[in-house]
Amino acid sequence: MSTRPEAIKFAPSILAADVSRLAEEVAAVVASGADRIHVDVMDGHFVPNLTFGPVIVRRLRPVCPIPLEVHLMIEEPDRYIEAFAEAGADTLIVHQEGGIHLNRTVQAIHALGKRAGVAINPATPASLVEEILPDLELLLVMTVNPGFGGQRFLAGTLPKLRRARAMIDQVRPDCELEVDGGIEPHTINQVVDAGATVIVAGSSVFGAPGGAAVGMARLLQAIESNRA
Ligand code: DX5
Ligand code: ZN
Repeated sequence: MSTRPEAIKFAPSILAADVSRLAEEVAAVVASGADRIHVDVMDGHFVPNLTFGPVIVRRLRPVCPIPLEVHLMIEEPDRYIEAFAEAGADTLIVHQEGGIHLNRTVQAIHALGKRAGVAINPATPASLVEEILPDLELLLVMTVNPGFGGQRFLAGTLPKLRRARAMIDQVRPDCELEVDGGIEPHTINQVVDAGATVIVAGSSVFGAPGGAAVGMARLLQAIESNRA
């Protein structure tokens, strides 16, 4: 099995998984070294697509031996954080653009005993999360416009990723820096070199020819060969 820098964590997104075999798909990525499972929640308003609700998190929880992070691509996330927390999410990621009182939302996540993450869309500057950063366990820099799997990586987000890395190093070095969207073997090293520590990948893992284990191995190999 490939090795990788300890600092890099993998969060396969089940958006690209075969949901009729979800437990098997999760087991395959866990066996291949996934650190957590990424659940993409879409409401048809914040993004033009609909996906999972708390019920899928509740059903996944007992069959998933690693943490679950829930990426809430929804408007007014405050209305649903308790339901996802109760369903078994370990980390709740809300969008900076999804509500008005971000500080209150982050406090509410912490009050539920969960890790708090904030995501920013490609057009949202990193400076908009500067004041909330000391309160976060995770900052997610979207590398595609949220809403769909299988989109092309937006290289224009790399300078922002580097700025986010610098901000984190300065105010909260233990805050994780996550990327999401278009991460494949040929794009992964750009985000790792820019300072990402958590990699979300959907299509390149679950959609890989040969299956999820092959997809994970290809991503790990890409990082390894960049280091060689
Ligand atoms: C996009 C979602 C992603 C998505 C990534 O709106 O937030 O998590 O699953 O999919 P890929 O890796 O296929 O770009
Ligand atoms: Zn996501």
